[in-house]
Amino acid sequence: MSEKQKLRLAVLASGGGTNLQSIIDRCGQGLLDADICLVISNNPGAGALERATRTGIKTACINHREFDSREDFDQAVIATLQEAKIELVVLAGFMRIISAPFLRAFPQKIINIHPSLLPSFPGLHVQQKALDYGAKISGCTVHFVDDGVDTGPIIVQAVVPIHPDDSEESLAARILEQEHKIYPQAIQWIAEGRIKVVNRQVKIAGGEISAATLTNPSSPDE
Ligand code: GRF
Repeated sequence: MSEKQKLRLAVLASGGGTNLQSIIDRCGQGLLDADICLVISNNPGAGALERATRTGIKTACINHREFDSREDFDQAVIATLQEAKIELVVLAGFMRIISAPFLRAFPQKIINIHPSLLPSFPGLHVQQKALDYGAKISGCTVHFVDDGVDTGPIIVQAVVPIHPDDSEESLAARILEQEHKIYPQAIQWIAEGRIKVVNRQVKIAGGEISAATLTNPSSPDE
């Protein structure tokens, strides 16, 4: 695919940026029909900015603390995205709520990754919440962003078992491993124009249906 046809991505991240890295790596391997044109962070100390700079990706630090309101902050982010002609906004640990004007500026063009099997455990600290609840499985979800918190149409999910001796960190690490697979995959489906949303159901043309099942603890006949 020629450079021109590649989907123009911006990744928005507030933290370490391992999901950003997984997308950078896939692009580097020629496995994504997409270009990361811009990385934006609200946090000047974000590892994601360093990862982008190291790879030669343009960065913008838009510190929310320097704005009087969320609307003003979002306007600055929207303007930066529009100037870069961004076609898909990829939230990867971006710790700001997306306002209505932001959604209107990029309708069905903002996606997010969340470290639980939505609709279970939306919000923050969800690995600990899954442990506290006593869930036996958890996972991650890539979804379109809508006006709720972690409520948008689900594109893809991956499941991991919860081990009896898991800590928040060990569970988060097991989930992250899957995040790094399904986020680039979802982006590639979008780049290929294979995704359409009907009501709130995401249809993926040619998407393989997984036959795998997971019971945890395993049942004796497995
Ligand atoms: C991930 O767990 C993601 O699911 C959540 O924020 C975390 C970001 O991690 N939205 P990283 O910065 O990509 O390592």
